[in-house]
Amino acid sequence: MPPPFNNRDHMTTPVEEITIVSMDEAKDVYRHKEMRQALYDAGEIVMADVLVNLHGDEHRSRRRLENRLFRRETLVHYERDLFPAVIEQTLIPHVVKGHAEIVELSHQLMMNLAALNAGVDRVTGTAEETARLYAQMMKFIEGATLAHTTRVVEEVEAEIAASMQAFDREFLVPSIERRQTLVAAVAAGEAEESDLPLDVLTVLLRNEDSLHLPHDVILREISFFLLAGAHTSATAFVRTLHNLFRWSAEHPEDVGLIRSDRSFVQKAVYETIRLNPSSPTGMRWALADVTLKSGRKIPKGARVTIDLNTINRDREVFGVDADAFNPRRQPLVEGAAPWGLSFGQGMHACIGQELAAGLLERSDDTAQYEYGLVSVAVQSMIDSGVAPDPNDPPVTDTATKRPYWGRYPVLFI
Ligand code: HEM
Repeated sequence: MPPPFNNRDHMTTPVEEITIVSMDEAKDVYRHKEMRQALYDAGEIVMADVLVNLHGDEHRSRRRLENRLFRRETLVHYERDLFPAVIEQTLIPHVVKGHAEIVELSHQLMMNLAALNAGVDRVTGTAEETARLYAQMMKFIEGATLAHTTRVVEEVEAEIAASMQAFDREFLVPSIERRQTLVAAVAAGEAEESDLPLDVLTVLLRNEDSLHLPHDVILREISFFLLAGAHTSATAFVRTLHNLFRWSAEHPEDVGLIRSDRSFVQKAVYETIRLNPSSPTGMRWALADVTLKSGRKIPKGARVTIDLNTINRDREVFGVDADAFNPRRQPLVEGAAPWGLSFGQGMHACIGQELAAGLLERSDDTAQYEYGLVSVAVQSMIDSGVAPDPNDPPVTDTATKRPYWGRYPVLFI
């Protein structure tokens, strides 16, 4: 008998479409064990069997292993020791030129950071090699957001399949081989644990015996970590800069704060993510009849859409100006996160939240404090004198129905 959670046969035509617009009902749906992921049904080419698409025990066991990469000390190590050099190397050529297009720059930057976390090595380190990885990753992003494409789906799918094959050959297979050699050396006592890279691929390979993942699933899982880590952070980075440009123009008294106070920039990132969640909706299939704590009944086979744009702009939670960007905002309701529900909740709550957005609570232990890679990267741009290019205004992306910037030219002055 097939495992009940993975039998998706009935999940093509919903018996009912239900939209949730309240924070409490949304949290209830996210946390309910009979609610299965539905958001990526159209993106199976990259998303089949990846963490965010698993359910029940299968999800739990893979998540437990991958969580190890997102422990506090590892994240602090990434933010303090690994990321500054990657940010500098990626930014410097643009700063030297005096201008940049930050949609591409942000994806390059976040890809370089996500590659470290996912476990994707670059053998030669040349610009051409990075450009190939970049082109492949951009195709994976198209795969994950296939439901929103304005292009012919079959054409996009063929391009994605070709990119995945090329990525496998050029990047994944050599990355696996290097790690397998290291893992064998540790097992033979010829290398130390500390010689192993801290990345998702190493965790998967070290736990092959319990996970039993075929190569094609490892290929999709690593592609997914690469795209999930890079795309969400890159879009948050561009949007935060855009919001800060406007805020500085309207609030010149805050310009000094933006330059000097990392926690102000971090709050700008939270506010940006609240107003523009990486996906405007969460989506779930009801695997059984479910009654929410509010009393709402959801029949088996219903598809539930969580409308994050409405929930994150609830005036009772975020104030009468909830539609506006305001980095000084304090939610009115105790326990409400400043980013709303943009990192999800429950079993699929974003594994990379702390990596991307840092810690909300300040502790006295500053050695353990994280601002998150989006804030750190935005701050590096501000430190480099970034400003919008007055002669080349930004334009939106027409290849998707999602509200992304297509080009965003800036100057360093
Ligand atoms: C601004 C940054 C980010 C935002 C807004 C964001 C948002 C989200 C959301 C909403 C979910 C839940 C999806 C659902 O329940 O249907 C999620 C899951 C996930 N995110 Fe993020 N994310 C961000 C950054 C990252 C980063 C940097 C990484 C990688 C290191 C990452 C990796 C993941 C993974 C692997 C999952 C699936 C978790 C699971 O299913 O257990 N995300 N993210």
